[in-house]
Amino acid sequence: MNQKRAVLSLKVALWVCALAPGAYLVSGFFTGSLGVNPVEKLTLWTGMTALILLTVSLAVTPVRRLTGWNPVIRLRRPLGLFAFFYASAHFVIWFAFYNVLDFGYMWDDIMERRFVTAGMAAFIVMVPLAATSTQWAIRKLKKRWGILHRGAYVAGILGVVHYFWLVKADTRLPWVFALILAVLLAFRLPALRSKRGGRPRASKSDAESAAQAN
Ligand code: HEM
Repeated sequence: MNQKRAVLSLKVALWVCALAPGAYLVSGFFTGSLGVNPVEKLTLWTGMTALILLTVSLAVTPVRRLTGWNPVIRLRRPLGLFAFFYASAHFVIWFAFYNVLDFGYMWDDIMERRFVTAGMAAFIVMVPLAATSTQWAIRKLKKRWGILHRGAYVAGILGVVHYFWLVKADTRLPWVFALILAVLLAFRLPALRSKRGGRPRASKSDAESAAQAN
């Protein structure tokens, strides 16, 4: 299989996998098949899907560096945007159903429940990342684009903190995310990179590879 076809197949697989939870939730909502507490199901599924996609998007650069297969970078933007899409749906569901579209209730919830504070912080960090995912923003921001987009790690960490704080007893799954994030973060720490001999000469900056990927 040539490179173009491989990337296309991966993109199709990504779209199918990323849209599947949304399609399931929308059809379940309208057919009434989301169980006894559909709002809870919508909240949990959108939150979980956002965190999974965000984590996978953070794995793209390490995979590229480890495998040397540069076209994989083309998956990073759609992964990040799908993560933002589900985080936005998660936010809208919480605002509409838990806070009945009332900004006062919303503010109280952010102030009173620390897991909501962390979730909101994660979401706020994701907004400028999604807003600057265009070619135009990449060209305009140049090196600053790469710096800004390190915010994806901050969003990931806040998302995991949010998850730790909301689960009551069983912290196994938050730990899985925390460990994966720690590995991904360690991979990108400058100290670790210099131990591995630094960035390979042929390797591009985040902004350069993003510009070519889109
Ligand atoms: C916009 C701000 C956010 C608010 C207000 C919020 C609120 C909530 C609420 C109310 C729940 C359900 C808690 C429960 O039923 O016990 C939840 C679950 C969850 N949220 Fe958020 N969240 C936000 C942002 C995020 C973001 C940005 C992510 C991911 C990056 C995320 C990931 C999760 C996860 C993984 C769960 C648990 C899913 C599960 O247990 O299956 N949330 N969130």
